[in-house]
Order: sequence, then C-alpha cells, then structure tokens
Amino acid sequence: MQDNTVRIFDTTLRDGEQSPGASLTSDEKLEIARALAKLGVDVIEAGFPAASPDDLAAVKKIAMEIGNPAPGQSQNVPIICGLARASQKDIDAAWEAVQYAQKPRIHTFLATSPIHMQYKLKMEPEEVLTKVGEMVTYARSLCQDVEFSPEDAGRSEPEFLYKVLDVAIQAGATTLNIPDTVGYTTPQEFGALIAGIKQNVPNIDNVIISVHCHDDLGLATANTLAGIQAGARQAEVTMNGIGERAGNTSSEEIVMALHTRRQVFNLETNIDTTLITRTSRLVSNLTGVPVQPNKAIVGANAFAHEAGIHQDGLLKHQSTYEIMRPEMVGETQSRLVLGKHSGRHAFKKNMESLGYELTEDEMEQAFERFKNLADRKKNITETDLEAMISDQISQPVEIFKLEGLQVSCGTMGMPTATVRLRDIQGNEYINAALGTGPVDASFTAINQVVKVENTLLEYNVSAITEGIDAIGHVSVRLSADNETTMQRQLPQNNQIRQRTFGGHGVDTDIIVASTKAYLAALNKILATSGKYDQELKQLKKKQGKETYEAVVA
Ligand code: KIV
Ligand code: ZN
Repeated sequence: MQDNTVRIFDTTLRDGEQSPGASLTSDEKLEIARALAKLGVDVIEAGFPAASPDDLAAVKKIAMEIGNPAPGQSQNVPIICGLARASQKDIDAAWEAVQYAQKPRIHTFLATSPIHMQYKLKMEPEEVLTKVGEMVTYARSLCQDVEFSPEDAGRSEPEFLYKVLDVAIQAGATTLNIPDTVGYTTPQEFGALIAGIKQNVPNIDNVIISVHCHDDLGLATANTLAGIQAGARQAEVTMNGIGERAGNTSSEEIVMALHTRRQVFNLETNIDTTLITRTSRLVSNLTGVPVQPNKAIVGANAFAHEAGIHQDGLLKHQSTYEIMRPEMVGETQSRLVLGKHSGRHAFKKNMESLGYELTEDEMEQAFERFKNLADRKKNITETDLEAMISDQISQPVEIFKLEGLQVSCGTMGMPTATVRLRDIQGNEYINAALGTGPVDASFTAINQVVKVENTLLEYNVSAITEGIDAIGHVSVRLSADNETTMQRQLPQNNQIRQRTFGGHGVDTDIIVASTKAYLAALNKILATSGKYDQELKQLKKKQGKETYEAVVA
C-alpha cells in the first residue's frame, strides 16, 4: 500500500505510560485520548489490557468514549488499539477492551532476535514461526484489523524476519510494525531493513508497514524518518517522546519534519499541527514528566531567540532563523487572555477555544479556581489556564480534600505546618507537624492523617509563566509501599514494577501547590487501592459522571 499519507499511531498511553513515573489514572488517560483524537492521530494505542483489570477497564472506556462519534454526530474517530503478547489470554483481554470501538485493532507481538528468542522466550526459531501464525490467526478470528510486531526487529536476522512477516501476512495481519526495541540501529541500517522487507516479503504491498523506534542513542526520529523514506506508512510515536528508558520517537518531531520538509518527503499526515503545543502540555501536566526546555518543537526555548544577532535577523526577516512559525504548532505561551474583571462568559469562551469540553459543574468549579487565581495574579495567560484546568482534571476524586494550610518557617524557629483536611465521608481532620522545612512539615502533617505508606521519589517546582506573580507548578511522584495491588506487569519482559503515582498542584504559593500535589498523588493511591470504591461510585453518580460503560450496561 503505497500512498502519500503517513498514519500516526500514538502509543503515549501504552509505551509512553511505561516510562518511569508516568502512571496515569483512567480519567487522565481518557482526557489524553480525547486530546489525541482532536489532534488527529489515526490510531490510539490505549494500553495493555492483560496487565490488570484496571488497565483493561481504561482501554474499554477509551474504546467506548473516544472510539465512537459523539451521539448525533458523525465525526471521524481514531482506531483504538490494545496491545497483547502472543497468547490467547492476552489477545482475549485486548479484544474484550477494544471491541466497543467503531474501529478496533489488536496489536500482538513476539520477539524475533536471536538474543530474545534464546534467553527471553527460550524458543527455537521454528517455534516462533508457528506461534506467530497461530496467534495472528486467532486475533484475526476476533478482529478485522490486526497488527503484528516482531519485537527487537532491529537486531533480528533479516532472512528470518522476512519469513516471520510472510507467516504473519498469510495469517491475516493487516499492519506489520518493525520495532527497533532497544534503539540500536542507525538511520542507514534501519532504512535498509525496511527496504529489504519491502523487497523480500511476499504480498508486503497488501499491508501497511509501520516503524516503532526507541531513542537509546538519540536516533529515534532519524530512524523513523529513514523507515518512512524506505516505504513505511505508519509511524509509532509518543507525545514529547516519553517512553521506556530514553523514550520513543516524538510525535511532534515526526509530524513537523514531514510538514516543514514537505519537498523532501512529499508526504502528509492527518494531524492538526496547531494543537501540538496544547497536547504536549496536557501530556506533560498529567504524566508529571516535564519537557526539557531545549526540546525540539515543544520545549520552552524552541521558539525563543535570545541572542541579539538572532533577534536582529528575525526582525529583518522571520525566516533568517526560524524554519517554522510558532503559530503552526499552536505556541501561544504569553498570550494574555483574562484578568481579574473577566466574567463567566469570557472565561467559558476561552476554555472552549482552548478545546476543553467541561460539564456545567466542571465549568463552575474551574471558574471558581480562576477567580481565586485572578485575585492574586494580575494577568492570566493561556498557559496559566491550561495548567489550572489540567490540575482540576488530575484531581477529580478528592478522597481527602485540603481545606486549609498554615505554615511557619524561616530562620527563627522550627518549621511547622497545620493542615485541615476533609475526607469523602465528610469527616474533618486538623493536624500539626514539625519538619525539616515547610514542605516536609506539610507532608508529615498530611501523612499522619491519611496514613498511606509511600516513598517520595520525585519533587519538582517550576514557574509556569514569567514574572514575580507567576504561578508555581509542583509535581511529585510517589510509590505506594506494601501494597501488592499497586504492582503492574510490563508487556515486553513480564517484569513486575511497583506502580508510581504522580500528582501536581498549581498555586501562586508554592507550599500550597506542593501540598495539593502531594495530596493529589495520595488520593490516586487511595482510589486505586479499591478501599473507597463504594464512596467513589456514589460521588460519581451524584456528579452525573457515571461512565458510559455503566450507562449502557
Ligand atoms: O519496543 C517494542 O518492541 C514494543 C513492542 C511491544 C511493539 O513496544
Ligand atoms: Zn516500544
């Protein structure tokens, strides 16, 4: 299938979510999936349903809500894909989750490199061939759209790879994805691998060739582009390049390279590039994985021209130092939009133009937060609004709510914090604690009430916009100790990892932002533990937020 469209297969919610600390709640995954659909991705790999009932439920929810047009509308929806190892149990779980989408896909994989077959799978090449045929046939008996990946293709022997791909095509695979699982290849090698596949695999032109590169040597984007030039028409990517170890190929880099260098590639994507920056910020805010300032396309400095000589050139003609206009990727960082006197109507209009679809209740809650912020910050920019709303999205369930905080600190006494919390059953708790500093004292005061054993793995503070009255953004990452329900399995090597939970908070006071972030992460642990299932169900019902799944059941 040689056309001039490169399909964007977004795996932020699967491979991206495997990056350390990027663990998301199902509401956050849904919000990201909604943003990816708006961005125009062709396929959303929504997760690995066999990992746990929670993962399965999250993929199912995305299949139902994002994989179908809104009631009464007929908009194009993305394919919703679930990952499965080459086993009936995994494939059944993937199908159970994605079948509700208008366009479901099962993605199954098995390793084909000598090193993986010998040490990980402990299988002979002949056994691998048989298994691929059986499992692709089985997946195809359930779903019309089946993708197969020979894991570690980058280190596989090309002749064996051709045989495996031939078997997969005969068994009914519709997309063949070629992963450079450990980011080992160079662009020349990877391009040659794809060209070899095109030349040597029978009936290869009846399927889509896909590429999936990891960034261990910083070559993921270059390798993906080399694969595309050699004939691949699907690129597997993540927003901001998040993913295992050094990450995956960045979506924004591939899309903008194809777009900006159209004369070189002569290829299109279905992406609305003006939504790139907004989607990148949402992913960063909800995963808690910051974007490095010098990151191409979406880094804070990507369009900043500090050096006088550059500014002079830019003033004479933009294209002297700029190959893309910031507006092309929706970069509107410093656009002032609202102030203290802005009313509900202006606020609602701004939220809508930013692409947020909020219920009346959510809008009211957001407006209250905005008023609060506007009391302390003179001018509110789009970036402030985005941070504020993603803070609201990431704290939909406040099992413990912060109602008050008072701290005393400095050089004249012991840092002390007093917190007032209210739990979901309405009980009020007031507690004071000492600490090594105001943040430590606040976290200790909370811990003594909430009583969730955890380890603080990461703590970051940053200013969202410029100026002395800038909002502080704090993100934390915690692991829940002593809870086996908090473990998750990685699809590639069955490794069990302790789940980590991110939380973030924004406020003009960074101690308040820190406390909100910490409590948000603890609330996620409590919500995932199942201890508050009953209360959470009741709360969602009260808020009219019953899931689509519950409504159709
Ligand atoms: O990197 C990889 O090989 C993968 C496969 C599961 C496609 O993520
Ligand atoms: Zn991968």
